[in-house]
Amino acid sequence: MKNKGQQNTTVTPRIVYQNKEILRRYAFCMGDNDLDKFIIKGGRRLEGEVSVSGAKNAAVAIIPAVILADGPCILENVPNISDVSISLRILYEMGAQVKTLGYNTFLIDATTITEPIVPYEMAKHMRASYYFLGTLLGKFNRARVSMPGGCYLGDRPIDQHIKAFSALGAQCNLDHGMIDINAGSLIGAQIYFDFVTVGATINTMLAAVKAKGLTVIENAAKEPHVVDLANFLNSMGADIMGAGTDVIKIKGVRSLKGTNYAIIPDQIEAGTYMVAAAATRGNVLIKNVIPKHLESITAKLEKIGATVEEFDDSVRVSVDGPLVRTNIKTMPHPGFPTDMQPQFSTLLCTAAGTSIVTEDIFNNRFRYVEQLRRMGANISIDGKVAVIEGVSYLMGAPVTVPDLRAGAALVIAGLAARGITEIEDIYHIERGYEDIERKLQGLGADISRKSVPGGTSSSHKVAL
Ligand code: EPU
Repeated sequence: MKNKGQQNTTVTPRIVYQNKEILRRYAFCMGDNDLDKFIIKGGRRLEGEVSVSGAKNAAVAIIPAVILADGPCILENVPNISDVSISLRILYEMGAQVKTLGYNTFLIDATTITEPIVPYEMAKHMRASYYFLGTLLGKFNRARVSMPGGCYLGDRPIDQHIKAFSALGAQCNLDHGMIDINAGSLIGAQIYFDFVTVGATINTMLAAVKAKGLTVIENAAKEPHVVDLANFLNSMGADIMGAGTDVIKIKGVRSLKGTNYAIIPDQIEAGTYMVAAAATRGNVLIKNVIPKHLESITAKLEKIGATVEEFDDSVRVSVDGPLVRTNIKTMPHPGFPTDMQPQFSTLLCTAAGTSIVTEDIFNNRFRYVEQLRRMGANISIDGKVAVIEGVSYLMGAPVTVPDLRAGAALVIAGLAARGITEIEDIYHIERGYEDIERKLQGLGADISRKSVPGGTSSSHKVAL
């Protein structure tokens, strides 16, 4: 997909859904499906083709970044997931004009936003609401955003974000659960992160893009969505170099214009279908991917005995023989992504031998393990290390999703298992996977949704 030049467009003063299907897909009411379950009759090989949607973690950075533009932006390949709905909802509640132009295309005019405030009621729904800090600071030299609520993967402090904002000249205070940031003006600075952090790298780019002078981020994150945000900002007229390496240089510019931009395909959604194909010993062509982004996943799949064929913008995963053990250690990009750890660990549950999985990014990302044990998995946990003894097969069972990628892992387990798996709390999955049910059905999976009427918006929900 190509990015096009800026377009002149009339913006309506509210969110307009052009047809009912789009309204359904981008349902603005968070929480209506809270109690829905997936029912999976496992044991079918996945076969056929599946197309990957736009990247969640790029979208939740790029949507707030629209605030920096002095004109409307058109975003294409926007994934239909609840994190996106929430991001758009925050913009809308702040006074932006948001319009759907097609299935996955939005026109957003955020020039009508005047108050740089995101209250708790909005920020609590999504972890990535912290990107409004950087973007509002970059636009207005001040921001007041609620601390993102909850925490599913262990401690997730934002000290490196605050360190960067302070280096740029901002005063940061915590006041009644709100992060209050003020700067007379933002001045470019040299920022060295103590460790690699995606969120702080992105937030620094957002805050520094219009700061006076040069900002240099050292030990920057290199994830594909960091690069995608830099490309998006550059298409608005920013001057950012080095994204994708560990040194990013940002020369502040005076203004940024509206743009037309297509979000990259989701690396983790692609990896999830790759692993699902292998777990069911299937044969699946995964389309609309950037194979380079998938190299660490491809390498591990090949190591355990799967076949991965790479094409220009697709990959085929197939399994004909037995799968064998391997070790995994999660690392920042281009290492093996933490966001694929639960899915790959699930695959290793039925690979012959003992696999060792080390989670080095988050300190509480094994909460799915007790659910997998209910399905017959043999996994022991010691701190950040999981030891997985391969078993011949998993058995269907009722399970509950603790977080987004854990949910994807439990779906994979259900697809591979013998018997029926009933998966509760699937709203976590819907934060990051567009139409997972339909896409899996297209591959021959027996998965259906059991609607439970009466689901209401739950205050405990926090996106990843
Ligand atoms: N950390 C700090 N202080 C900070 C920032 C991070 O201690 O100021 C720690 C974190 O607690 C974590 C590590 O550093 O232990 C890395 O955190 P990072 O900032 O890289 O992660 P994040 O921005 O919170 C994003 C993704 C996550 C993904 C991680 C790592 C978004 C919205 N979220 O989180 O995505 O796991 O990077 O790649 O982009 C997911 O999609 O399922 C998901 C959890």
